[in-house]
Amino acid sequence: MFRFELVAVDTKTSARAGLIYTDHGVIETPVFMPVGTQGTVKAVEQRELIEIGARIILGNTYHLYLRPGIDIIYKAGGLHKFISWDRGILTDSGGFQIFSLAQFRKISKDGVKFQSHIDGSYHFFTPESVVEIQRILGSDIMMCLDECTPYPCDYDYAFKSNQLTIEWAKRAREKFDNTEPLYGHSQAIFGIVQGSIYPEIRAKSVEELLKLEFDGYAIGGLAVGEPVEIMYQITEFTASLLPQNKPRYLMGVGTPENILESISRGIDMFDCVIPTRNGRNATLYTRNGKFSIKNAIYKEDFTPVDPECDCYTCRNFTKAYLRHLFNADEILALQLASIHNLAFYIWLVGEARKHIVQGDFLEWKDIMLQRMGEKAK
Ligand code: GUN
Ligand code: ZN
Repeated sequence: MFRFELVAVDTKTSARAGLIYTDHGVIETPVFMPVGTQGTVKAVEQRELIEIGARIILGNTYHLYLRPGIDIIYKAGGLHKFISWDRGILTDSGGFQIFSLAQFRKISKDGVKFQSHIDGSYHFFTPESVVEIQRILGSDIMMCLDECTPYPCDYDYAFKSNQLTIEWAKRAREKFDNTEPLYGHSQAIFGIVQGSIYPEIRAKSVEELLKLEFDGYAIGGLAVGEPVEIMYQITEFTASLLPQNKPRYLMGVGTPENILESISRGIDMFDCVIPTRNGRNATLYTRNGKFSIKNAIYKEDFTPVDPECDCYTCRNFTKAYLRHLFNADEILALQLASIHNLAFYIWLVGEARKHIVQGDFLEWKDIMLQRMGEKAK
């Protein structure tokens, strides 16, 4: 059964160390969840994810519903079986993807009609149907259907949008309570706090969602183009209103710096395409900052990407070889870069956890930010 246990709270910041118990294993928090939109973390094999230390990955209701379709995933015995992954899976509701990917969308009180980005076909998601789809996917953690507001977003729109997200959360909660898991393992449901950059709306959102007693709370509608300081302020403010005894998930964030600053503000869970997408684009993240492996200075650099990293890529290959693979458009380049970046992200949040427990998180964070050279940005 799903359960969250708070292990330590930092004294100088709001950082927390915790444990999330699921029927697919225990997840130490803070946690980074690699993004596996279509039931695969791009360019990374499941056995590699295990070696990297991934405890939970993210899947997308929107994509998996459109392709291969939930009938096929049901026949396969659920998403875990279909993709051969017996650790945690969190599925996003589609609330974000419909707004960022669909060719057409129309929101009504009842739900959202949208046109597939794959074949142009029309579909209708309701808060209830999205719970049913996630029952069929069988994710350990499902998300409520929400509307992710864009940035900028005027107050009136953010207010009305949040009212809708709250109504949808009530209906999702009710559907969740009136349906059962299908595959013998339990499922949890998280609410999503919206409210754009407006503290009053965020507070209202939290107040209403708390009444519904979700298993955890996500903060959505951030990292959508707002200045990073505003993102931190809203994250800090929203996290401060959330209960201590439930996990907090900041959706779609972020850079290594964003993640450390958000951990410091009380966030437990993260997902982001940066390590995989930027990795496929030849950008590598290390303890000493990020760089493009395509740069000519690495032509004869026979040292690892990050000498302190113990990932498969760094244990076995040199920068010169990785650069060659990228220049030659070899598939292995994408794989090795993604493996390293994910290993680095997972190391980073694991190290943060260690220092939260140890009691020197703030000192470690400042040193780390300086080392990564991200502080000035
Ligand atoms: N991923 C990043 N931001 C969001 C959000 O606001 N809502 C949902 N459902 N997913 C997200
Ligand atoms: Zn590495």
